[in-house]
Amino acid sequence: MRAADPFVPSLFRVERVSRETADTITLALSPTQGTPPAFLPGQFFMLYAFGIGEIPVSVSGLSGEGPLLHTIRAVGPVSQALCQLEAGDVLGARGPYGSPWPLAQAAGSDLLLIAGGLGLAPIRSALLPALAERERYGRIALLCGARSPEGLPFGPEIGRWRSQPDLQVEVTVDHASPAWRGSVGVVPSRIPYARFAPERATAFVCGPEVMMRFTALALLGAGVAAERIFLSLERNMKCAFAVCGRCQMGPTFVCRDGPVFPYSRIARLLSLREI
Ligand SMILES: Cc1cc2nc3c(=O)[nH]c(=O)nc-3n(C[C@H](O)[C@H](O)[C@H](O)COP(=O)(O)OP(=O)(O)OC[C@H]3O[C@@H](n4cnc5c(N)ncnc54)[C@H](O)[C@@H]3O)c2cc1C
Ligand code: FES
Repeated sequence: MRAADPFVPSLFRVERVSRETADTITLALSPTQGTPPAFLPGQFFMLYAFGIGEIPVSVSGLSGEGPLLHTIRAVGPVSQALCQLEAGDVLGARGPYGSPWPLAQAAGSDLLLIAGGLGLAPIRSALLPALAERERYGRIALLCGARSPEGLPFGPEIGRWRSQPDLQVEVTVDHASPAWRGSVGVVPSRIPYARFAPERATAFVCGPEVMMRFTALALLGAGVAAERIFLSLERNMKCAFAVCGRCQMGPTFVCRDGPVFPYSRIARLLSLREI
C-alpha cells in the first residue's frame, strides 16, 4: 500500500471504535480504496491525525482477517486525536514497518507471551496467529499485568482466553480494587507460575521499558537463553524507514531493525534513555 512518496500516507476509514479502558480504544480501519494491507505480527504503521501529527502504532489484530486493528492510548496530542475519531472518520496510515515477532522461529518451542499494560496490543498480534496454529507450539502461556484491573485492555477477551484449555493465562495488577480476586504484583513475579521448559522456550515481551528489563532478567534467571527472549522497543520516530535518524541508537535504527529485537542484541540499548 506504500504510495510513490514514502512519506505520503494512504487514506483509511474508521469502521468501528471499541473502548478498551478509560483512555484506550481500538480502531478498526479499512482503506478507502482496495483491501487492507498485509502485515506481520509485531509490525507497526504510522497513523496520521490530519493537521496534528503522525505516530507509530503497532498492529493488534490478525493479518488478512478484515480491517486493520490498532489499539491506542491517549497520552498526548496525536494519540488523543486518534482516540477521538469516530466510525466514518478518515485518517492517514502508512506501513507496515519494522521487524515482526519471530513466530516461525519459535515453532516447536514453548511460547511465553508477556505483556505490561498496553504492551498486550502487540502481544495479541502474536497470540492470535499462535492460537490459530496451536499445533505448531508446545505450551503457551500469556502473562499480563496492568497498574489496576481497570487498566487492563482486552478484558472480555482475556476472560475467553482463560477458559481455553491449551493456553495458560496469568493476570496480575500493581494495585487491586476491592473486587479484584486475582494476583497482585509486577508481571515478572508471575514467571515462576508459568508452565514452560526453559531450554526450549521462546519469550515475546512488550511493555514499559522498566518492566521489560526486569522481565528479561527474570527469564534469564529462569534459564531462557538471551537469544530466545524478544522485546519490542519503543522510541520516538518520524520517517519509520531509517532515513531521518530520529530513532537511531548507534548503528541501530529501531524503526528498521526493530521494534522487535532479541535481548542478546539490545540489552545495552535498553539501559539508554530516549535521545
Ligand atoms: C514501534 C512502536 C509501536 C507503538 N505502538 C503503540 C500502540 O500500539 N499503541 C499506543 O497507544 N502507542 C504505541 N506506541 C507509542 C506511541 O507512538 C506514542 O504514545 C505516541 O508517539 C505519543 O504521541 P503523542 O503526540 O500522542 O504524545 P507525545 O506528545 O509524544 O507525548 C505526550 C506525553 O506522553 C508521554 N508518552 C509518549 N509515549 C508514551 C507511551 N508510549 N506511554 C506512556 N507515555 C508516553 C510523553 O513522554 C509525554 O509526556 C508505539 C511506539 C512505537 C515506537
Ligand atoms: S524513524 Fe527515522 S530513522 Fe527511524
